Amino acid sequence: MTTPVALSSMPNLGGTPRADLLNLLVVDDERSVRDGCREVAQSLGFSTFVAEKAEHAYRVLEAQNIDVVLLDMRLPGGASGLEILQQIKSRKPDAEVIVITGYGTVQSAVHAMKLGAYDYVTKPFNLEELRLLLERVASHLKLASENRLLREKIKSKQGFGGIVGRSPEMEKLYRLIAKVSRSAHPVLVQGESGTGKELVARAIHFTGPFRDQPFIPVDCGSLVPTLIESELFGYVRGAFTGAVRSKEGLLTIAQGGTVFLDEIAELPVDLQSKLLRAIQEKEIRPVGSTKSMPINVRILAATNRDLEVAVQDGKFRKDLYFRLNVVTLKIPPLRERKQDIPLLVSHFLEKLARSSGVQRDISDEAMKLMLAHDWPGNVRELENCLERACALSSGPLMQVADLPTSIQNAQLHAAVGSLPANRIVSIAEMERQAILGTIDQLQGDKLMAAKLLGIGKTTLYRKLKEYASQD
Ligand SMILES: Nc1ncnc2c1ncn2[C@@H]1O[C@H](COP(=O)(O)OP(=O)(O)OP(=O)(O)O)[C@@H](O)[C@H]1O
Ligand SMILES: [Mg+2]
Repeated sequence: MTTPVALSSMPNLGGTPRADLLNLLVVDDERSVRDGCREVAQSLGFSTFVAEKAEHAYRVLEAQNIDVVLLDMRLPGGASGLEILQQIKSRKPDAEVIVITGYGTVQSAVHAMKLGAYDYVTKPFNLEELRLLLERVASHLKLASENRLLREKIKSKQGFGGIVGRSPEMEKLYRLIAKVSRSAHPVLVQGESGTGKELVARAIHFTGPFRDQPFIPVDCGSLVPTLIESELFGYVRGAFTGAVRSKEGLLTIAQGGTVFLDEIAELPVDLQSKLLRAIQEKEIRPVGSTKSMPINVRILAATNRDLEVAVQDGKFRKDLYFRLNVVTLKIPPLRERKQDIPLLVSHFLEKLARSSGVQRDISDEAMKLMLAHDWPGNVRELENCLERACALSSGPLMQVADLPTSIQNAQLHAAVGSLPANRIVSIAEMERQAILGTIDQLQGDKLMAAKLLGIGKTTLYRKLKEYASQD
């Protein structure tokens, strides 16, 4: 049987998904079919390989990382098409196989799909049909690998003490954490409330060389001033009424490890001097004692205030500020890295699933709102919001109604705020603003933008092309 294949050249139309970096293998004994398939696949960006028979195909599969196989169901030789398909699937389970069958053998194609084939084409096939099919398999494979990547990224958070986020801002922070964790200098962690300052401090300690030593957090904001002193420096028997025996301070208990001074801006000024001395001299004097004792601890401090302003206002000692400020790590607020929101959402949903035993997901509409909201309470607010939504949600999918009203209103603000108040706007312009605005909010993540806007990727790319030609 000969198969008519038009060898017209197939230009890749701009805007269609490209299959670059994907490898395709054509297995067919007819040269015209191999050539036709190869031409279409190459025009889409696939790297192509060809084989005339099964044995040859197995050798290519061994040697190359093949993503897609176009397999003729009727090859010369002993094995049936279905047997060859099973062989390919067992050798390369991730590869997608598209089977090529003649008319009248659709039944066997259906059988092939039951055995794991991705789809089938019937001979004689038209090149346009094949092109669409290959485009579809390419975007399916891209999506599958993105999902895999996403899962790996979520898993890889463990490397940094549970900090989730892959925005460029967070990547920069990870590099800094890795760098400072190797030294013993003081580090000041700055960030708005709920941005993860304690998480970062823990990451510095637990990825550093003193990770087996104690990590002692001290909340300077919640202890009464007189208590902070005895907590940090300890006291000796009889130092004050009720001091019936001496007690070690946290700076001593943390010996060899790290003390994390949270809310350092709240430390009373006289204690600031005492702390400065402890850092400089590397020794402390417990309350009521006349003797100093050496300490060897790393100081990490955190604040959500601008310490420089506190210094100017005379509320924070300049010399202590300079001591602590040897390295400052600034954690950006969540609204400046909205790209991390989907990752954080899936991280907290998994966490909630572990504690509640119920795996919930979030509707696209609700996710859109999460992205529009500005999160003044940062990651903590996001975590609380999901916890609440999970408790309210009746089904497996959290809906807009399960979100707090402040977040539901974000949509209104986002939609209204982006439109000029006093002029009529065409639907096309609204669409343009929605598309460009969403991509901007997601810092260029077009795939996620298309998903959240509820349009196909191809449509999104086509629109972007239109806009580019209009500008
Ligand atoms: N990037 C992140 N990945 C995962 N969880 C995070 C992240 N950032 C913050 N969290 C979580 O959000 C909550 C608040 O974080 P954390 O207590 O470290 O914030 P904070 O900056 O110290 O806030 P505050 O200034 O209010 O003390 C914690 O439950 C923390 O685990
Ligand atoms: Mg904190």
